[in-house]
Amino acid sequence: MAKHWADFQYEIYLNGMTGAVPRLPTDLTRLEELVEHRLGPGPVGYVAGSAGDGGTARANRAALARRRIVPRMLRDVHERDLSVEVLGRTLPAPLALAPVGVLSIMHPEAESAAGRAAAAQGVPFVLSSASSTPMEDVAAAMGDAERWFQLYWSKDREVTRSFLERAAACGFSVLVVTLDTPLLAWRPRDLDQAYLPFLRGVGTANYFTDPAFRAGLAKPVHEDTDAAVMRFVSLFADPAKTWPDLAFLRAHWSGPIVLKGVLHPDDARLAADAGMDGVVVSNHGGRQVAGSVAAADALPGIAAAVGDRLTVLFDSGVRTGDDVVKALALGARAVLLGRPYVYGLGLDGQAGVEHVIRCLLAEVDLTLALSGHRTPSSIGPDDLVETSG
Ligand code: FNR
Repeated sequence: MAKHWADFQYEIYLNGMTGAVPRLPTDLTRLEELVEHRLGPGPVGYVAGSAGDGGTARANRAALARRRIVPRMLRDVHERDLSVEVLGRTLPAPLALAPVGVLSIMHPEAESAAGRAAAAQGVPFVLSSASSTPMEDVAAAMGDAERWFQLYWSKDREVTRSFLERAAACGFSVLVVTLDTPLLAWRPRDLDQAYLPFLRGVGTANYFTDPAFRAGLAKPVHEDTDAAVMRFVSLFADPAKTWPDLAFLRAHWSGPIVLKGVLHPDDARLAADAGMDGVVVSNHGGRQVAGSVAAADALPGIAAAVGDRLTVLFDSGVRTGDDVVKALALGARAVLLGRPYVYGLGLDGQAGVEHVIRCLLAEVDLTLALSGHRTPSSIGPDDLVETSG
């Protein structure tokens, strides 16, 4: 019998018999406000902030809210199983933790704590290139648990080649290549505070520990950190890349490759043609293109275009279990969770991330069951209605 994630609610109620209540809210939409009160304005602005006036981030939420689930009755939902096949592996639930850089600004244990939480719950952790902890240390913290590596595709081929080698050597199985950040977007919350952690050498750990990166420095990182930061800034992203360049990644990574930040069906087709294995329909949580199409509005067209050829994943705006269920209904195989787990980390370290994962998956399990579904695969576009509001 598969694990019933919904049972988390009975654990909470039973603990309540001794007077204990959860340390964090179980309505995950409340976490952002708590973080705003408890953490410093720089880090909070960096995590909660978005591009432009924040309209894309709001549109992400609105596009999910506008779609409503139509529950079905009397369908025997006693035995349920949230597991899904994703990129050749079986996941216990249709969820992974999205790559989020610089987690040390939220909590001193940073990516290691998030990775341990994901491992404890059996959910893949996607480690950012811009992590504040070297990938080898995060791998060691996670044991043999499922982990994926997100690549910011550097201007420097040798650095990219070295990152791929290191990631494969320490057990990252899937490569997630983020396409939507060839330049840093206009982000007023960060600009108004002149806050960019990378310039302080935070979020550069994978670079500063990399032999190919260091080979380009005149002095060791600790002797001239400013020069190391400048080298990082100069090669971090490459706005000149085009589709044929993907052949380099395909040649240097033997596992599945997923392209993150795809919003147009034609780009999804190009991904398939380039021999990629999947796409993440995402607008980076509204942090890149102000005025962008909401990710959930882009999802159905992409699922229709490439769902038979590629694994379609989704992020941007997921806050609750019903958001996950709606994304599955719109054609996603699984969902990446972003800001909510980062808030959980900021508020309560590894335990906070585990709380967020367990709350979210309990809600997914319950929402599917109460809507008449025993597995993620049985829900589809016909189970949703789109409202005007
Ligand atoms: C991100 N995201 C991101 N994506 C990526 O590919 N590499 C990265 O290093 C980061 N870093 C990052 C930092 C912060 C603070 C945030 C909030 C997001 C984007 C992330 O993977 C995901 O696409 C979004 O978080 C999804 O949006 P929501 O659901 O969190 O709003």
